[in-house]
Amino acid sequence: MDIFEKLPEALLPWFDENKRDLPWRRDKEPYHVWLSEIMLQQTRVEAVKGYYHRFLEALPDIEALAEADDELLHKLWEGLGYYSRVRNLKKAALVIMERYEGIFPRKYEAVLALPGIGNYTAGAICSIAFDQPKAAVDGNVLRVISRLTEDGTPIDLPAYKKKVQTALEAVYPQAAGQFTQALMELGATLCGPNWKPRCAECPCGSFCGSALHGTAEQFPVKTPKAKRKTEKRTVFILSCDGRYALEKRPDMGLLAGLWQFPNVAGWLEPEKAPEAVEAMGIKPRELLRQIHRKHIFTHIEWEMQGIYLETAEISGNFVWMTAEEIKGKAALPTAFRQFWEEEQGV
Ligand code: ADE
Repeated sequence: MDIFEKLPEALLPWFDENKRDLPWRRDKEPYHVWLSEIMLQQTRVEAVKGYYHRFLEALPDIEALAEADDELLHKLWEGLGYYSRVRNLKKAALVIMERYEGIFPRKYEAVLALPGIGNYTAGAICSIAFDQPKAAVDGNVLRVISRLTEDGTPIDLPAYKKKVQTALEAVYPQAAGQFTQALMELGATLCGPNWKPRCAECPCGSFCGSALHGTAEQFPVKTPKAKRKTEKRTVFILSCDGRYALEKRPDMGLLAGLWQFPNVAGWLEPEKAPEAVEAMGIKPRELLRQIHRKHIFTHIEWEMQGIYLETAEISGNFVWMTAEEIKGKAALPTAFRQFWEEEQGV
């Protein structure tokens, strides 16, 4: 019997006994499953928990999501990163309202055709919400499979992912949703990415190539990534009578449509800062302080110098917000929020 065929019998009872109690495991409502899977893309379970509750409280169903304005969506997503995810959620909600009378479609091809949904998410939704034999293959699952089979093919090759998806779907049990989640759970717990795998506790220990030969840490194999570019920026935190200058980023590109503190490319000498802000229509009064922070995006890293300046008046082409307004309304992405937290003494 091949390794794949042994998986359901080994994983289902183990998952039943050992699964973590996670908010999105309490029901199989498709909207909930969809939202959780989108939030969990590239984001840790612990980080997602609070966002998941808050989002559903604000937007309890697909109709509410379809009608939500972008400012609210950005605010609900603030700090989670990859903001196109939330814009695609809304686009998909509009499609579901228009094409499917507000009811989440069940057909895999229809799910896959929704904005922001790729093979992984379509597989996760169809299996978890509808118990269809569809696999959800992400980096965690690829790591588990490459260890089980001691397969040295780089897991980032799309053809490898497809092969794993097909091999898994051939052995999917009736309890499809449980099986999908059991694979994810194994990859997130015993067979995780950043620690020595706990093969002695693993339900697959008796038939896993890596457990039997002690090779788990040699897998998965990955193609080396190109080094991320770094960019220096100077960020101005301009304050006047308890208000701060903010502006909206352009509708396209990195952090599209979110709020930011005014900033320019490169690191300015702090003494040159007053001159630079004057060019933005600002009257500087006092240079307060300067700090350094960085932020890593997928393809670029910002090395930022933050310059805190008090200004003589509220001017320039900015929106001057109070702390309350920044907290309550404006979605300030983490790259810039670091400077705000420092200002607030967080
Ligand atoms: N990672 C991706 N999807 C997940 C899920 N449904 N539960 C836990 N971790 C996940």
